[in-house]
This record gives sequence, C-alpha cells and structure tokens, in this order.
Amino acid sequence: MTRKPITLITGANGEIGHGLIRYLAEQTNTPNIVAFDLKPLADDLLPLVHESIVGDILDTALLDSIGERYQLDTIYHLAALLSTTAEKYPELAHQVNVQGTVNLLALANKEAHTVKFIYPSSIAVYGLPDLDTKYNNPNIPEDQFLHPTTMYGVNKLYCEHLGEYYTKNYGQLDPTTKPSIDFRCVRFPGIISAFTVPSGGTSDYAPEMIHAAVQGNDYACFVREDTTIPFMVMPDAVQALIQLANAPSQRLTQRTYNVTSFSLSASDFAQKLQQTYPNITITYNPTPARQAIVDSWAHSLDDSCAHQDWGWSPEYDLDSAFDTYLLPNIEAHYAQYQLDAV
Ligand code: SER
Repeated sequence: MTRKPITLITGANGEIGHGLIRYLAEQTNTPNIVAFDLKPLADDLLPLVHESIVGDILDTALLDSIGERYQLDTIYHLAALLSTTAEKYPELAHQVNVQGTVNLLALANKEAHTVKFIYPSSIAVYGLPDLDTKYNNPNIPEDQFLHPTTMYGVNKLYCEHLGEYYTKNYGQLDPTTKPSIDFRCVRFPGIISAFTVPSGGTSDYAPEMIHAAVQGNDYACFVREDTTIPFMVMPDAVQALIQLANAPSQRLTQRTYNVTSFSLSASDFAQKLQQTYPNITITYNPTPARQAIVDSWAHSLDDSCAHQDWGWSPEYDLDSAFDTYLLPNIEAHYAQYQLDAV
C-alpha cells in the first residue's frame, strides 16, 4: 500500500496549531495535513486538513497506526502541557511533555527517509536565580542560565537535547542504525494571538489583559507591574516554525534557536492599552507561585543566531503588533462574536 505523504501536527487544536494549519492550508490547494489532538479539531479548521485524529500522544498503538497509513514527511510536535498546568500535575506533565515527545521521535525514526521534526521550546528553559541577575543580563543567548525551575521548563530543555540525540547519535553503537530525524527547535518567548487566548501558561497575563481591554473589561493581573519577559505575536511564531523548517540544512549551525520580538513589562502593556481604551482599569494582584515562575524567565532574548543562520526577523515590532495585528483583529473578532450571539 502506498502511503500518502503528510505533515503531522500534534496539539493541532492549540493556539499555535490553529495559526499553523491556517498558514499551511493557504500555501497549497491539496491539504496534506493530519491534525492530532486530545480534543476534536475546531469545525472551521476541518476543511483545511486531510484528516483530524482525536487521540493521546501516549497511545503508541494509535501513533503506529498513523505511521502505517501515512508517510510522515514533517512533524510539528506542538502538544504539551504549559507551565502553570504542569506545576499542578507534574508527573502528568512529564508523561505528556517528555514521553509524548519520545513517542513521536520513535514514530519518526521508523521512516526510512529523513523526517523533519519541528519542535517548539520556550523561555521556560531559563532559570535566572534572582531579579538583579535577570535585569542585569538582558538578551540572553541560547546557552546561558539554563536552570529551569518548572516541570515544563525542565521538560522542554530535556526534549531539546533529546531531539538532538535522535538526530545525531541515536543508536550510535549499532553500525546498522541510521538516524532518520532532522530535529529543529524554535525557543519561543510568550506568544500573543488575536484569535485565541491561551490556557495553562504563565505568560498568559499579557494575552488575557489585551483580550479583556479590547472587550472593555477591567483586568486583575496575576503578576507585578514591573514583570518583564519577551513576547511575539502569533503570525511571527508561525513564520519562525515555517522558516526554520524550510531552512537549508547546511545553513544550520545549531538545532535550537531563540526567536523574539519585543520585551515589555506588565505596566507597559497596561499603559499601551489604556491609550486606546482609557476607561479600563488594570490592577495587580500577584499570585506568588506564578510570579516566581516569570521572575525566573529571561528579561529578553538574543536571537542573532536565527538571524544569521536562516534570516529570521519578526515582521511585527511592538507598535505594529498592537496597531496592525492585535487590536484591529481582536476588535473584529469580538464584534463578530457579538453578532453571532444575537
Ligand atoms: N507560554 C508558555 C507558558 O507560559 C511559556 O512558553 O507556559
């Protein structure tokens, strides 16, 4: 039986999955995407994929059946529990985030040809010991301060190494073993989408604040006003994954690349929103555990390696992110939502 060549997207129903499916579907008339998620794919995305499979990445029999039916050319392995959820259920997070990734790598490794394995990592891999160190060390490169304090960060850092191992050294004592994985990893800052709101992350205060403000709602922020971490908007996050996937191998000098757009404090977000929505009130009511997590994350990232090796550059800076992507699209989104509700 010939197997249809496909792009497999795990966590397809998550925020990045939605953006990625829309982008990939726009690029081709023949959808060759197989979407995989614990929950059924959103109805409006179903026409954009070849098949939507509801299942668990811990179900290896189900994964094997996908490999029997399809030829896996590219895998975007997006499924994960984010940092706040992972702290509530650490062992489950380890199962999903680490064992799930091993399962996908093992599935890819069964192919005779090379499978591109595209993996999103996170600022959560950093662990700055205190605020002085954090604010005195802006623009952190890929290889410094790698002492994550969360299960999610530990999982992501380990899986960065795991992907590299499967690509370069898998089964290195067996001369008949030929690795068939080309692992490429984007280390993301917090991501903000105009169309979806995240759940279970610790950078969620920024998208929550923006979506609340556009709807005219007040917002109680769960971190202090000085809290600063890097961010980017969803179209740039999708572009980073696509560009790294398409980069010529000979240009890549490493397997994991930082990408970023702008770093902003919570109060800077609030001020920027209050310029457009002067009637909203933003208060700060820090949750100590979540505050400690973001305090340990980098203030800003050095993404010069991605610039040099594969021409990465975000399309949106701070002002264009707000003025041309976030605010107009979120306003249109909720306007449509209200129309639909009438
Ligand atoms: N957005 C993620 C989280 O908050 C971090 O990459 O968990």
